[in-house]
Amino acid sequence: MKARLVRSMDLILGIESSCDETAAAVVDASLRVRSNVVASQHELHLEYGGVVPEIASRAHLERILPVVHKALAEAGVGIGELAAVAAGIRPGLIGSLLVGSSAAKGLAFGAMLPFYAVDHVAAHLFAGLLCEGEDGASPRCDFPALGLVVSGGHTSLFRLEGPTDCVLIGRTIDDAVGEAFDKAAVMLGLPHPGGPNLERCARGGDPSALRFALPQLPSALDFSLSGLKTKLLYEVRGVPKGRGAGATFARTSAELSEERRRDLAASFQSAAIAQVIDRLSRAADGFAPRAVFVGGGVVANAALREALSAWSAGRGIALIVPPQRYCVDNAAMIAGFAQLRLARGDRGDPLSVPTEPVSLLARGSAPKRVQ
Ligand code: KG4
Ligand code: ZN
Repeated sequence: MKARLVRSMDLILGIESSCDETAAAVVDASLRVRSNVVASQHELHLEYGGVVPEIASRAHLERILPVVHKALAEAGVGIGELAAVAAGIRPGLIGSLLVGSSAAKGLAFGAMLPFYAVDHVAAHLFAGLLCEGEDGASPRCDFPALGLVVSGGHTSLFRLEGPTDCVLIGRTIDDAVGEAFDKAAVMLGLPHPGGPNLERCARGGDPSALRFALPQLPSALDFSLSGLKTKLLYEVRGVPKGRGAGATFARTSAELSEERRRDLAASFQSAAIAQVIDRLSRAADGFAPRAVFVGGGVVANAALREALSAWSAGRGIALIVPPQRYCVDNAAMIAGFAQLRLARGDRGDPLSVPTEPVSLLARGSAPKRVQ
């Protein structure tokens, strides 16, 4: 009993800086979030309509130490009392990743703590295991399970044999779902950040106003979003004359009525969700999963969350889904994944571990036992 109490206190500081959120969090060994601080930079990128890597990495540099101090203070813990430090070290914008991973390595080195280099995609996948408050408990889950990450950079399906034990079984062959939301938002004349603004615009719109076909691909579990984007673009602006950069369009998005913009946003959102549910169904038919883990920024979308709940309830599969604040980028998921590694006896990584732009989970056949 005593050992369990001590274990539940082991605290890991997580740091996340892969894109435009500077984040730090403290999570205990029961996967309870003790603090979760996120400084977003949306306002810095607004005028460019998307994230500018150089601006993002400079902003991370300014924010990283105050954010870490705040996370430690809110958890009421000093750096020397931690069990380890973890950072997202791939995938992401390399200049941004380097700020968080270097800060984490420096803190680990200075305090002589183990360091966990965490794959951001794996962290999204298991964020549904996080819990909050003294009474909160990490959800029970059975394996094998299905895993789905839908973010700005990734759309990936996994077969999971256990926490941290993943095999990639499907992925997008072009854009990630979040990326497609962002581009669709630009086409509709909506401001950055595209995904949440498109969701807002879609409210009250008619999802059957524009019909999209489900893409049929050589691999039944792969995704494709590029056809949806093209169809939306031609609907908004007309079929272009000419090709590539020289193409000219008959209309601009400013000519859309508010009602048509709402209908098109709702139709696009509904088509993207239909594709996600279709791929989940095909994957679940293949091996009868006991649970489905979902994560990534797009899972913050309320219509997708509803569709996932209905789908999993209809099939009797447990849905492990994080609250919205742990779907979008955050550091609690980084510290949480490091806790899963610590729990399996993994002692962490050398400080020489490289920071990389690409996820191991996005490459060819994914390795088992992701870091
Ligand atoms: O996981 P995330 O915060 O960062 C990456 O790892 O990429 O995901 C960001 C993506 C963006 O493409 C954003 O537009 C999308 O998630 N997103 C949404 C919503 N909130 C964030 N997409 C649709 N509806 C939302 N409510
Ligand atoms: Zn992410």
